Amino acid sequence: MRTLIDVRNVSKTFGGVVANHDISLKVPEGEITGLIGPNGSGKTTLFNCIVGNHPIDSGSIVFQDREITTFTVQKIARLGLLRTFQQTHIYGNMNCIQNMLISVPHRTEGYSDMFRPYRREAYERVDELLEFVGLYSKRKLQAGDLSFGQQKLLEFAMALMNGPKVLLLDEPTAGINPTLINGLIDRLKRANQELGITLFVIEHNMRVIMNLAEHIYCLAHGELLAQGSPNEIQNDQRVIDAYLGAH
Ligand SMILES: Nc1ncnc2c1ncn2[C@@H]1O[C@H](COP(=O)(O)OP(=O)(O)OP(=O)(O)O)[C@@H](O)[C@H]1O
Ligand SMILES: [Mg+2]
Repeated sequence: MRTLIDVRNVSKTFGGVVANHDISLKVPEGEITGLIGPNGSGKTTLFNCIVGNHPIDSGSIVFQDREITTFTVQKIARLGLLRTFQQTHIYGNMNCIQNMLISVPHRTEGYSDMFRPYRREAYERVDELLEFVGLYSKRKLQAGDLSFGQQKLLEFAMALMNGPKVLLLDEPTAGINPTLINGLIDRLKRANQELGITLFVIEHNMRVIMNLAEHIYCLAHGELLAQGSPNEIQNDQRVIDAYLGAH
């Protein structure tokens, strides 16, 4: 399997805090890879490093055999590497359709297009993806009036609008009602299998990540502690101790 994202010896500190120390990992194309670890272990920081949100102190990040270590967020997004946030980033006073449309940097083609900036295909794609995440009936509602779980689904659909090759999802099920989690897992799997999107997923819900990911990396104190199949990770004493020690 081809490696899509290759994180090589990445370190990142904030003042005296070592958030990531010498982390190396690979995200294979077409798969769902998991990232777990106790609170503060450096998971979100690693996502921020990969997508170009912070400059890293040392190491390198390669995407599709191309070094992207110093690229801007926008340039990395244009290559097809996108992330969602632990806290949702939606515009509460716009409806779902408008949020979906503005999530894509759009191009107008001269004067004749000025009053019709979005193409019919864009609206069709919005409808398809809102249907895909189960929000079609809410499409004209202000995003701020959606429930928190629905806002996360909207953010997921907004990321899909960009046709990413790979999506980094930061705790997609956090705050979602347990009865709705299975539906979300199903959508993530379908995005992977039907839309061919590689997923790299941070998750605290062990049941979810064990069910979703083919390979899991575990961080602790900013370092890579363990990696393996869900079964190997579940039975890894170092992982069990890291979680118990964190509480
Ligand atoms: N912008 C920042 N400035 C200073 N310190 C930061 C910054 N971002 C993260 N940190 C620190 O880096 C460490 C790792 O934080 P990070 O958010 O990556 O953890 P996490 O594994 O995502 O945790 P959680 O599971 O709670 O979301 C923490 O000690 C945090 O306080
Ligand atoms: Mg985090």
